[in-house]
Amino acid sequence: MFELNLQGIDINGEPPKSDPERQYYYIAKCRDHLKKREAELGRKLTYHNETFGCQMNFKDSEKLNGVLEAIGYEPRDDEKADFVIYNTCTVRENANDRVYGRIGYLGKLKKSRNDMIIAMCGCMMQEPTAVEKIKTSYRFVDLIFGTHNIFKLAELIWSVYEEREQRARDPKLKKRMVIDVWKDTNEIIEELPSSLKYSFKAGVNIMFGCNNFCTYCIVPYVRGRERSRRPDDIINEIKDMVSHGVVEIMLLGQNVNSYGKNLDEPITFAELLRRVDEVEGIKRIRFMTSHPKDLSDELIDVIAASRHVCRHIHLPVQSGSNRLLKAMNRHYTREDYLLLVDKLKAKIPDIAITTDIIVGFPGETEEDFEDTLDICRKVGYDSAFTFIYSKRTGTPAAAMPDQVPEEVTSERFKRLLDVVGKCSEERAKTLTGKTLPVLVEEENRTENMLTGRLDNNLLVHFNGDPSLLGSIVNVRLNECKGFYYIGEQV
Ligand code: 5AD
Ligand code: SF4
Repeated sequence: MFELNLQGIDINGEPPKSDPERQYYYIAKCRDHLKKREAELGRKLTYHNETFGCQMNFKDSEKLNGVLEAIGYEPRDDEKADFVIYNTCTVRENANDRVYGRIGYLGKLKKSRNDMIIAMCGCMMQEPTAVEKIKTSYRFVDLIFGTHNIFKLAELIWSVYEEREQRARDPKLKKRMVIDVWKDTNEIIEELPSSLKYSFKAGVNIMFGCNNFCTYCIVPYVRGRERSRRPDDIINEIKDMVSHGVVEIMLLGQNVNSYGKNLDEPITFAELLRRVDEVEGIKRIRFMTSHPKDLSDELIDVIAASRHVCRHIHLPVQSGSNRLLKAMNRHYTREDYLLLVDKLKAKIPDIAITTDIIVGFPGETEEDFEDTLDICRKVGYDSAFTFIYSKRTGTPAAAMPDQVPEEVTSERFKRLLDVVGKCSEERAKTLTGKTLPVLVEEENRTENMLTGRLDNNLLVHFNGDPSLLGSIVNVRLNECKGFYYIGEQV
């Protein structure tokens, strides 16, 4: 993995102008400060990171944790840590509500532990109204930053340390929150430390941001415009991970199918995937998320011919109604989508297809909703993430007439769950009795069970030795429990 070398950095000199060297300087400075603090307290200092939301946020958190650990903080499972960071999500309103509920709890903890540092970052912090609310109602928060400058964490922490020292010198000074939220960026800073959650599987960012502006979605506003990492940087990172024992890679982007378009030397996602498939020692490759409008025949051919790409595609449909797909700005019709599914199934017969669906988009009629149920039955999804439409201020859909009443959406939501549940069960049953490879991911010590994941992303529980964690073993799927199997190693 990337090895951070802080030797030879003059922490009393001027900070370097460019990154990542500038961040190495601040990591070294913070580390020095932390060591002194540890000596005063006679104990180690700890951090706790609470992450909300999607795979992107979890990946960002591995980077944040990498920097925190490089500074010298040790991880802790609960909020009674010296440094607490919330990496927030704002894709739906209830994500924001959850965060506010928990910041209140942090405030109570801080009353008896004045030394504690509280930081907020992530998508929700890109919204000026959320930052205003924290500034006025949660003044005990020390640091706020957004999605575009997470690489600056050490520099920002240094500003918090400085702010505290100024107040210690002059008790009349009022507490000042360090706030650094960028609107957007073109920068991609490589070569920073990262702390992987698992030793055997890892996400790899291939691009950041989204240009699609689906009318319900806040992501393009909080994650900025699309920008791709250079293929060589991606491949080198993957090779490095694999050489350290990672066997499964998940390529991450809001819309991986438009990868590479803005590079000086453009390349397609299909070509990148082909190159990743050739990395020596890699066992499984996943990717998410694919926008149906950009899924090319070339990509389908690459998946079909690949040795390591999992036979699983996450292909958000959002709605089965052409009228709503247009209002959502999705740029495909239900017919286009079904044609794509036919092509996928024809070229990759065992492929698992999963999706995202929104219920209650403004103006959704019973007929539109029936179209959604119908497309679910026609595709026969392996599983589906289902969401009740949530109004996001600033998105075009928030201003649309005919917002659907809550009682109507919740009734439709139940019907949708019923249909997708049945589809998943039907699909899962077809594998019962088969022996298939699973990547062993978790152990349940109390029950002496292991949990592994199939190529199609479904879970399997079976008896086995914990030493198998991180390896791929063959398991017979004895019993299908709907969303998971009970199996035995063969
Ligand atoms: N309301 C409900 N669901 C949403 N999603 C995105 N924005 C909204 C919203 N405003 C869902 C979409 C997307 C998934 C990640 O979240 O289905 O694919
Ligand atoms: Fe949101 Fe659409 Fe971009 Fe996905 S593709 S992040 S749903 S705007």
